[in-house]
Amino acid sequence: MRVLGIETSCDETGIAVYDTERGLLGHALHTQIPLHQAYGGVVPELASRDHIQRLLPLTERVLSQCALTRRDLDGIAYTEGPGLIGALLTGATFAKTLAWSLQIPALGVHHLEGHLLAPLLEDPAPSFPFLALIVSGGHTLLMDVRGLGQYQLLGDTLDDAAGEAFDKTAKLLGLGYPGGPALARLAETGDPTRMRFARPMTDRPTLDFSFSGLKTQVLLKVQAQGEGREQDANIARAFEEAVVDTLIWKCDRALDQTARERLVVAGGVGANRRLRERLVAATTARGVQVYFPRTEFCTDNGAMIALAGALRLVAGEREDAIIRANPRRELAELTAPVESP
Ligand code: KG4
Ligand code: ZN
Repeated sequence: MRVLGIETSCDETGIAVYDTERGLLGHALHTQIPLHQAYGGVVPELASRDHIQRLLPLTERVLSQCALTRRDLDGIAYTEGPGLIGALLTGATFAKTLAWSLQIPALGVHHLEGHLLAPLLEDPAPSFPFLALIVSGGHTLLMDVRGLGQYQLLGDTLDDAAGEAFDKTAKLLGLGYPGGPALARLAETGDPTRMRFARPMTDRPTLDFSFSGLKTQVLLKVQAQGEGREQDANIARAFEEAVVDTLIWKCDRALDQTARERLVVAGGVGANRRLRERLVAATTARGVQVYFPRTEFCTDNGAMIALAGALRLVAGEREDAIIRANPRRELAELTAPVESP
């Protein structure tokens, strides 16, 4: 099956075509960063309006990149949620309408299932079962993954998500939006021996996370240094080390508990260079293979949605023509694909 993937959950319009025999045929991304920069964060209504303008030209661009026409498509997958309701509705409406006009199926995909399966776009791809660490702007999850739609939640964040913690800390340091990558760049110039923050929740056996206390520690350091700002890079470095240490500590625990031999890391924070280096070292030490998507597929993209939708469509899953978007939906509620009559 040749499936068009559409991602519009937040501030990125992502389009891709995935072929279940040949793999990823093409993809393109339009980022709205310049549009929201002046506001210091995503303005939902501006995001929806921009998606509407981008969807059709971006789809045409990807199809011509793949030397295909709309008639060559066998199905359409779109992000159903979680995400911003207006942004989700633009993608869902576009997908359902296009699919209806072509008389092909459209299927809503859980955004986090997209992230979770993104490493399957790479070679070598991980095989099931595996342990997954999803670290995005909205979520920090440890999942035991037995197969497509067979997900058991092992750990979740009690407050801020890892990406959210990066973004809020970046804001405290005056780094603007998007904060995560800017904070990571500043951290590279910091001295790791100058400062240390407590590692949240590593003194307890739970696999849950909590990052909001870390933000408070950063705030106190920023306030203590006054106007000088000469400690900013060291603060960024200490913050990054604390987050990375915590994530590694929890992954280690989860690997102990599940005895899985493969670890998959996904979501925007998975693009963090320090996290990747440290995870490779930690997993190698215990004989576990770690899999990451390429950096551009860590953050939101159409390829992961095309892939996740294609795997479900090819297994026979179908839905009605009702246009749906679901801004809040738990990943652990998903089931394996069921062939429709
Ligand atoms: O997965 P994603 O693109 O969107 C969501 O579904 O949330 O993740 C975006 C998050 C943002 O919080 C961003 O700051 C963070 O990922 N991020 C990073 C890096 N690149 C993106 N955080 C740390 N280091 C990075 N290099
Ligand atoms: Zn995402």
